[in-house]
Amino acid sequence: MPETSIISLPPERWRDVKQLRLEALREEPAAFASSYQDELAFGDDVWRARLTSAAQRDGNMTFFAEVDGALIGMAGAGWPSKAKLRHVAEVYGVYVSADMRGKGTASRLMRRLLDELRSLEWIEKARLDVNAESRAAVRLYEKSGFEIVGRALRELKVDGRYYDLHMMELHF
Ligand SMILES: CC(C)(COP(=O)(O)OP(=O)(O)OC[C@H]1O[C@@H](n2cnc3c(N)ncnc32)[C@H](O)[C@@H]1OP(=O)(O)O)[C@@H](O)C(=O)NCCC(=O)NCCS
Repeated sequence: MPETSIISLPPERWRDVKQLRLEALREEPAAFASSYQDELAFGDDVWRARLTSAAQRDGNMTFFAEVDGALIGMAGAGWPSKAKLRHVAEVYGVYVSADMRGKGTASRLMRRLLDELRSLEWIEKARLDVNAESRAAVRLYEKSGFEIVGRALRELKVDGRYYDLHMMELHF
C-alpha cells in the first residue's frame, strides 16, 4: 500500500494545487462557497499566492495529502490582520478525493492544520461553516474538536437548491 504523506508545498507546485481545488469544486459543488466557474477564472498569480504566506499575520496555511507524488487531499486556514479579528482562524477548502475517502486522511490533515494554528501565539480559536447535510464533514470536524454553535438557514444556493450551514468553532 503506498503511504499517504501530509505536507506543505512550495509555490512551484501551484499547478497541482489548482488541479485538486478545481476537482473539489467540480465534484462537490454543495460543499464550498466558491464555484468551479469562480476559480477557473483565477490567474496563475492567485494560485501561487495561496502557497506563499504561511505563518504571517494576515496569512494563510494549507496542508496537502500526497500519495506517490499525486495530491489527494487538502485543508487550509486563513486569518485577518485586523486587530479585533486576528485571533480567529477560518478553516476552509477541506477535501479528499472520492476514491481515497474513509481512510483517516482528512482527520490527519485536520490534526496537522490545528497543531500548526495552535502554535501561532495570536490564534485563539478556529471557526468554519459546513453544509449541514454533509454528515462526513460534520463528523470530521466534531472528531477534530469543533462544536456546532449556530445554523444559517438557506445560506447556500446550488443549482436552485438551498442548503443550511452549520457554524462550528474550536477554542484553543
Ligand atoms: C469530509 C471529507 C473531507 C472526509 O474525508 P475522509 O478522508 O474520508 O475523512 P476521514 O476518513 O478522516 O473520516 C472522518 C470521519 O468522518 C466519518 N465519515 C466518513 N464518511 C462518512 C459518512 N458518509 N457519513 C458519516 N460519517 C462519515 C468517518 O467515519 C470518520 O469518523 P470516525 O473516525 O469516527 O469513524 C470528505 O468526505 C470530502 O472531501 N467530502 C466532500 C468535500 C467536503 O464536504 N468538504 C468539507 C467542506 S466544509
